Amino acid sequence: RSRVTLPQLQAMKERGERITMVTAYDYPSSLLADRAGMDMILVGDSLGMVVLGYSSTVPVTMDEMIHHTKAVVRANPAALVVADLPFLSYQTSVPDAVYNAGRLIKEGGADAVKLEGGQAVVPTVRAIVNAGIPVMGHLGLTPQSAVQLGGFRVQGRSEAEGEKIAADAAALVEAGVFALVLECVPADLARRITAALPVPTIGIGAGPDCDGQVLVYHDLLGLFDRFRPKFVKQYANLAEATVAALEKYRDEVRQGKFPDQEHSFK
Ligand code: KIV
Ligand code: NA
Repeated sequence: RSRVTLPQLQAMKERGERITMVTAYDYPSSLLADRAGMDMILVGDSLGMVVLGYSSTVPVTMDEMIHHTKAVVRANPAALVVADLPFLSYQTSVPDAVYNAGRLIKEGGADAVKLEGGQAVVPTVRAIVNAGIPVMGHLGLTPQSAVQLGGFRVQGRSEAEGEKIAADAAALVEAGVFALVLECVPADLARRITAALPVPTIGIGAGPDCDGQVLVYHDLLGLFDRFRPKFVKQYANLAEATVAALEKYRDEVRQGKFPDQEHSFK
């Protein structure tokens, strides 16, 4: 497989072929996501919650994002690698945003960056795109500003809120995003936005009619169960399988069954 390109993703939308995306945060998860044939890998700032143990994405730093993006890129995936700009790396000024987006590309090795927000980030998106860096937008439930949004709840339920998100989406496309994540919005709204936009929409909790879907690696594999939003489908329970394996190892060591002949040197 050769590296997925932006024109290929655009062509997939035009042909009605669904785009697949999953998060990954390190070398082994990147290898496995790529072996599974994902079109895109997201080094999400969900890193903070599912890997680093923070209670939100807000504390995640640029250095943490770069550290983990480098590990993902070392797997040399054919999937296009998108890295999240963490909180406070792009909100302070447009030059800060361009500089930090550049670090995710230059130091991290990502192909593209993602940031949260609508009209307010339009000048930021335009400047990053003008610097030659592909940008993915993120609307609906934007975890970096979840407190302002009233918590982790569905966004765009009312007519007015829905219109605001649709207008933000159009503004982001105008600013140059190559794709747009829609998180936790009613399926009808996501369908309307997807039909109206020339670029792919990638849904998470946004119904079946987006151009693609994204899920958090640890959520879909059942590796993180501190809480589970309604939109997560658990395709495996690796937490259970992992604990069972660790318990078996613990028992065999205690019983003197491991290591046996087969795992010892003569
Ligand atoms: O950080 C993340 O994992 C994300 C996805 C949920 C879209 O932004
Ligand atoms: Na994110």
